[in-house]
Amino acid sequence: MIFYSNKPSVPKTEDYQRLVESIFDSGFLTNFGQYHNALLEKLKRKLDTKNIALCNNATTALACVIRSISDPKKSDIITTPFTFSATCHSIIWANKKPVFVDVEDNGFNLCPKAVENAIDKNTAAIVPVHCYGIPCNLDKFDDISVRYNIPIIYDAAHAFGVKYGDKSLVANGSASVVSTHATKAFNTAEGALVYFSEDEKCSQFASMTNFGIDENGETSTLGLNGKLSELHAALGVANLETFEKNIEKRQKLWNHYSTAFRSDDRIQLIELDSNLRFNFGYCPLTILDDTIRVDRVIAKLAESKIIARKYFSPILNNTSTFKESKVAGNLKNAKHLNNRVLCLPIHESYLPHA
Ligand SMILES: Cc1ncc(COP(=O)(O)O)c(C=O)c1O
Repeated sequence: MIFYSNKPSVPKTEDYQRLVESIFDSGFLTNFGQYHNALLEKLKRKLDTKNIALCNNATTALACVIRSISDPKKSDIITTPFTFSATCHSIIWANKKPVFVDVEDNGFNLCPKAVENAIDKNTAAIVPVHCYGIPCNLDKFDDISVRYNIPIIYDAAHAFGVKYGDKSLVANGSASVVSTHATKAFNTAEGALVYFSEDEKCSQFASMTNFGIDENGETSTLGLNGKLSELHAALGVANLETFEKNIEKRQKLWNHYSTAFRSDDRIQLIELDSNLRFNFGYCPLTILDDTIRVDRVIAKLAESKIIARKYFSPILNNTSTFKESKVAGNLKNAKHLNNRVLCLPIHESYLPHA
């Protein structure tokens, strides 16, 4: 058995097959059909919010959201360099410029203080990432948003199912974009869901992702094709059935890792806040000992068929595509994370004695 870092969760073949048969019988493979609508309703209930829309992936969704919510007269989007490239690609597709700002000391998420220092007359929006599903400092970003009148758009790609206190993490900011890609804790193979704080932005997004066609059938805005197909939506409907049970199993594996590594001060597994209902979609391990090379650890694990991934190195300002982007401040903490974090395999089927 090979232990991949993010193995997709899948339903029983016969369960999915039944749904596929009903899709074929209906004659509708896409265009807001029965499974798109069923998944949307189930997610509204699960996430306890009405303003959500579905999309065919989070990169497209982020580009559309940044385009529709950020200030059209300003050019810059403040974001983190410690993320997957999609965060930054979507900013550029939205015709804006990324400005990289440091992450928190001893954390993975964008630092509110560093963000505040970077805000200027060109700041059109702030895009923090809930890295690995760990919540950003929500209160501080809310406060910054109000004081400077700048929208916060969360890249919540990793955050499906995470709750902070009683509230779904997704229901924060002006908008939050969750990926439901195959590698995520909940998946539709490819896909995304987007939360909006305002109803109007939600319906505008729905038409943007349907070629700009509005409720009256008019092409009233610039659009693209961001629709989630029936086959993808049905996979989501089936996967939703086992999501909570899968999280419990993943948590057990997390606890095994945690017990195994607790006494080793060369490495650090994150401590989870007691208020957090986590999704265990990623298991990041930080190497604290400078003499240990992350690539050698990854190669050594691979010899035992354990496939760990270097999420997220290099940091984006060190990549050829984004190296010309603006940096505000010194990125000291992000540089420290570069080549130090690896994500260990985590999946419901990897549980010892499962
Ligand atoms: C932080 C982050 N943002 C955005 C994305 C893009 O998601 P998608 O693959 O659904 O386009 C990813 C994908 O893994 C991601 O990790």
